[in-house]
Amino acid sequence: MEKHDEWFTARVASVEEIAEGVRQVIFDVGSNGELFDPGSHLNIKVVIDGQPAIRTYTCLPMPVGKMAIAVKLHPNSRGGSRFIWQLKPGDEVELTQADNRFPLSWRASHYLLLAGGIGVTPIYGMAESLATKGAPITMMYGGQNRASMAFADELESLLGDNLSMHFADDDQFIDIEAAIAALPEDGELYTCGPIGMLNAIKAAWAKSGRPISRLRLEVFGDNGKFAETAFEVEVLNENITVTVPPDKSLLQVLEESGVEMISDCRRGECGLCAVHIISHDSEIDHRDVFFSDEEKQESERMCACVSRQTGGHMKIDTGYRP
Ligand code: FES
Repeated sequence: MEKHDEWFTARVASVEEIAEGVRQVIFDVGSNGELFDPGSHLNIKVVIDGQPAIRTYTCLPMPVGKMAIAVKLHPNSRGGSRFIWQLKPGDEVELTQADNRFPLSWRASHYLLLAGGIGVTPIYGMAESLATKGAPITMMYGGQNRASMAFADELESLLGDNLSMHFADDDQFIDIEAAIAALPEDGELYTCGPIGMLNAIKAAWAKSGRPISRLRLEVFGDNGKFAETAFEVEVLNENITVTVPPDKSLLQVLEESGVEMISDCRRGECGLCAVHIISHDSEIDHRDVFFSDEEKQESERMCACVSRQTGGHMKIDTGYRP
């Protein structure tokens, strides 16, 4: 079992609204505390409508012995942010150790950091780490308005003129193509934000002809359109039927059932875990950034690590590999 699959109990040390609609929760993790890199995540067990579920959040920079997350209360929350927002000091929660699937390469001549809204959480840790080591950085941070943008003050004092902020209320948007064009050839782009922004960045990066290995993006963990519900999956090429509960991914359940799966990012980015959908009797909640909008519309494939069916029964074949 890997460390990030092991759970331990932590206590909420403090709760603070650090920007409009964004709450920072600091946990005392005691002897479970470890050093972690920027871009790392923790898992937390939450309860949504009485059902257990797991949410993943970026670990904010913290001294050993503490872990912290910053969570935006989504008006259409499926429950994860609502659960986090009702936490108060002294509450006990179940967490996993930090796991980094969005690491800095430390090999680039220049780092372009693009953050959208609460997608700033991993980017903030990266900016702090890069700035501390004197690495060349340009950061662009977009949000509704300054009051809603977490860590705006901290980033300003860290990065000075290397930071630009863009407020949608004032019709200020990031010129993604220009930002990429200004990046040296061996520069890298790290980004986290809403799916629309990530898709635009992916398209602009592809258009620029730069190698995909120099673009690193992260999808919000909580980006589904529907609440998690259990669904049944018939795996035709394995001749088994499994039930995916609300708090597990299809990928996890298939692996636990002995189905050999290929995966890497486990966040809907690489497409390695994609399965072929033979039939489905309710809507597919595509939560990845690997497939295009058209492919999601067609629903012939889905990323087993993040995407789900909204209840009911589906038939798949895991033999397909993108
Ligand atoms: S493992 Fe990368 S998309 Fe599922």
